[in-house]
Amino acid sequence: MLEAAEENDDDQYLHIDDYSSLFYEMHGRKFSDLNRSYMLPVDKDEFQRFELVNRLVKSILNGSLFCGPVKKNLQFGPYRRVLDIGTGTGLWAMELCDLMPWVRVTGVDTVAIQPIEVPPRCRFEIWDVNNPDYSYDNGHFDFIHARYIQEGITDFPKLLGQIGRLLRPGGIVLLIEPDLCQFADGKPESEYTDDTGPRGWFTLWETYRNCLTLLEIDVTVPRRFRELLEDTLVFEDIHVHEGIIPIGFYPADESELSVGQLQWMAHELFLPGLKPMFLHFGVPDVDRIIKDAQRDLYSGDFQLSGRLHIAYATRREDEPV
Ligand SMILES: C[S@@+](CC[C@H](N)C(=O)[O-])C[C@H]1O[C@@H](n2cnc3c(N)ncnc32)[C@H](O)[C@@H]1O
Repeated sequence: MLEAAEENDDDQYLHIDDYSSLFYEMHGRKFSDLNRSYMLPVDKDEFQRFELVNRLVKSILNGSLFCGPVKKNLQFGPYRRVLDIGTGTGLWAMELCDLMPWVRVTGVDTVAIQPIEVPPRCRFEIWDVNNPDYSYDNGHFDFIHARYIQEGITDFPKLLGQIGRLLRPGGIVLLIEPDLCQFADGKPESEYTDDTGPRGWFTLWETYRNCLTLLEIDVTVPRRFRELLEDTLVFEDIHVHEGIIPIGFYPADESELSVGQLQWMAHELFLPGLKPMFLHFGVPDVDRIIKDAQRDLYSGDFQLSGRLHIAYATRREDEPV
């Protein structure tokens, strides 16, 4: 019965038959064939994680889908155009369409994992943003949103240049990425010596960063949002924020507790999803690394936390598109 229900759940996504060529399988998980640099799975467990991330970030933004001057920017004029880069299952894009019936949202991803039935004014397209060939004219979009995509971007400065090209003067970009370094009891990994702290947790994250580096992903990007946006020379009014994301059930404050629970659940799904990547790179003792990290996650011996980096900026009016 359960199996049948799960089958049906899967059917609502586009990937089943028609788009099977966009995927490859590795160690029992599905991956994007179009962007082989992105080595996190794109399958049912991972969709659940996207759902948790969507709730988590909204919680951090006090229930909103965005922050900064986005609402004001999208308010005037009908048919404002929004681009959601690395849209995943399209949750954010569809919610924005529901929230603002006057905007048109295009979600792009390298995999067709979005639902078949989508709200009017919402569309999904296949595009690997590492490849700059994109058919939209300069200045086409009013707002560009990119959330939790860093692991699939081989040249983030180039992507920001592309975003600058696609935004109209006065348009807004919003970037949201988690830091890939972790904290325990409020202290960063770097402040713990070899045999102290949650070793299992830290070892897993170090291994993850090493694998991403081998994939030519720059793991320092979220911390450098301001500098990277400034370097493009086409953005102004750059705002960057860093928020603490508790992981687990320890926060006393109700809304922090809710974020902590969501992040804990998201990580529970995330850890086994790293196994194929680690095996691919020949990391020894992969099962033990994941198990030790799970032990630290479940034990509550340390108050684990991460950091979320949020940046928004306005496309300058005085720089030609
Ligand atoms: C962790 S999910 C996040 C989904 C969504 N942005 C969210 O916040 O819920 C990352 C998504 O980015 C997509 N992605 C990664 N690299 C990409 C690239 N180069 N071009 C387009 N999409 C990419 C992945 O396929 C995946 O669906």
